[in-house]
Amino acid sequence: MKKIIVGMATCGLSAGAKEIYDKFAEILSGNKKSFNLSRTGCIGMCYLEPLVEVRESESRVLYSRVTPEIAERIFREHILEGRIVEENAACIINIDGEISGPEAEFLKLQKRIVLRNCGYIDPESIDEYESADGYKGVRKALLEMNPEDIIGEIKDSGLRGRGGAGFPTGLKWSFAAGSEGDVKYVVCNADEGDPGAFMDRSVLEGDPHSVIEGMIICARAIGASSGFIYCRAEYPLAIRRLKIAIEAAGEKGYLGKDILGSGFDFDIEIKQGAGAFVCGEETALFASIEGKRGMPRIRPPFPAQKGLWRKPTNNNNVETYANVPWIILNGSSEYVGYGTEKSRGTKVFALAGRVKRGGLAEVEMGTTIEDLVFNIGGGIKDGGKFKAVQMGGPSGGCIPSDLSDTPVDFESIPATGAIMGSGGMVILDDSTCMVEMARFFLNFTQDESCGKCTFCRIGTLRLLETLKRITNGEGETDDVEKLQLWGERIKQSSLCGLGQTAPNPVLTTIRYYRDEYDAHINDKKCPAGSCNPLVDFKIDPEKCTGCTLCAKNCPVDAISGNPKENHVIDNSICVKCGKCITSCQFGAVYKS
Ligand SMILES: Cc1cc2nc3c(=O)[nH]c(=O)nc-3n(C[C@H](O)[C@H](O)[C@H](O)COP(=O)(O)O)c2cc1C
Ligand code: SF4
Ligand code: SF4
Ligand code: SF4
Ligand code: FES
Repeated sequence: MKKIIVGMATCGLSAGAKEIYDKFAEILSGNKKSFNLSRTGCIGMCYLEPLVEVRESESRVLYSRVTPEIAERIFREHILEGRIVEENAACIINIDGEISGPEAEFLKLQKRIVLRNCGYIDPESIDEYESADGYKGVRKALLEMNPEDIIGEIKDSGLRGRGGAGFPTGLKWSFAAGSEGDVKYVVCNADEGDPGAFMDRSVLEGDPHSVIEGMIICARAIGASSGFIYCRAEYPLAIRRLKIAIEAAGEKGYLGKDILGSGFDFDIEIKQGAGAFVCGEETALFASIEGKRGMPRIRPPFPAQKGLWRKPTNNNNVETYANVPWIILNGSSEYVGYGTEKSRGTKVFALAGRVKRGGLAEVEMGTTIEDLVFNIGGGIKDGGKFKAVQMGGPSGGCIPSDLSDTPVDFESIPATGAIMGSGGMVILDDSTCMVEMARFFLNFTQDESCGKCTFCRIGTLRLLETLKRITNGEGETDDVEKLQLWGERIKQSSLCGLGQTAPNPVLTTIRYYRDEYDAHINDKKCPAGSCNPLVDFKIDPEKCTGCTLCAKNCPVDAISGNPKENHVIDNSICVKCGKCITSCQFGAVYKS
């Protein structure tokens, strides 16, 4: 039977997926034959939403940018008459996994382990999860393996934490397993605070059971009876689907007392965070779950000895847990076949910024930045020139285009001065000013500093003030040296990862784009034409038609000219608000 599946993760829903789902429901209700209508999570091609799949036993056809009218055509032509609607078919995947269609390149280079069910099953149906081998990992771990075997398997897989630091997961579990304690906890970090990152949200919205299953296996390995998922309240759909999944898993006997008759008890609660970035740091996260203000604490003692409520605790990221059932079921020997020697497996990246195909992509570790930006991402939008990628969010750094052959793994990325981070990848083109980029991230980290350490609290403020001056055209000759010195001091003297990494965006942009800093400071120019105080607004007489719109919209009357004649801007009056650029329909206003 043909099945119609609508992509209904947050980005699909915001692009109108609910309307499309309702349209199909309406069409199907008036039809005598029975067809199957279902929903799924993030398919990955967020740039083509709303997405609809028509699934048959022999093929899957992905339709993009579906409107209610296109939905009607899909139903009439594809469902009833068996003809694919070619204009809207983004990809066709046949039974052997061969992919064709105009957007095929987006999927071809990917290897889906974490996202194995995302965009494939209905995240609100435990039956669909089970049909996709779901909970077989728990069955195997609880009924056929002892805790040492489980930890051994995870160690052998080489899995490293996907929350940013890449700590070996099996080793971390062995610490918690070896700690004495009457009560132990398993925590899942779903705080995902990096601007531009949406990997964890997509996994939770698209395949919540995989994370729950990973947590149950971990609990068994370390001897925990209670688990928490710390998820930011800004992710209401992820929370809703997690709640549905936890309830369904309880009803089926995967959570609760005597799971699958193994004698092992484990339950999971959801704790909603209020969106403070620092609460993603695990000790601050524990404080927040405990009902205290989310502030990091000194380590040691480490969470494996004294974590949540000072009890032995294992905390992992969403993506880390989602890998676990796959490894237990398929074996570490299969997992080590993917990735590089020191960074095994795959990594999910959220491609954002100036790339043509923005979305979610999972690739083997060791795939190059170039592959991600050009082969998967389709290159730069609007004919722009690739300048750099910003990886790792506010803790990360910028990697310039001439290092685009760098493989993405836990060794190669830090060698550039950036960090792997949790998978946010913002692609920048030549219209991006790197000093402004550093200022943007410093603004974020300065705002989010919890204030406990002097170097982070005051140091980030000094960095931010200096960057603001530079982008305002008030930079001084020794500013770069000061930024470097203070940046290093903040890194060395901060208690938690927020302060230890906050200077990274500044330090990497100085390392690779020193000339842009010098141009701002010495020549009072912004080479990218992005910092408004350092550019003049001008009108191209060849393009201006004298329509007068810019003059009417200028708040300070800086534009003069008679109707149907060339207009001119007086830059001594102009306050650089940019309204003339947006109001000119002829592209005559430019910055120089
Ligand atoms: C300021 C700050 C924010 C963080 N935010 C997150 C986050 O949102 N998600 C996450 O998994 N880890 C985050 N981390 C890292 C966690 O402290 C921790 O290392 C991670 O959850 C461990 O899981 P893993 O071993 O599976 O990577 C953050 C760290 C810092 C310093
Ligand atoms: S480094 Fe910054 S965020 Fe971390 S504990 Fe210190 S002040 Fe707070
Ligand atoms: S809006 Fe554009 S075309 Fe019209 S007067 Fe201004 S610059 Fe000329
Ligand atoms: S940038 Fe703003 S102030 Fe300057 S000329 Fe244009 S509209 Fe007027
Ligand atoms: S959320 Fe819809 S494809 Fe990513």
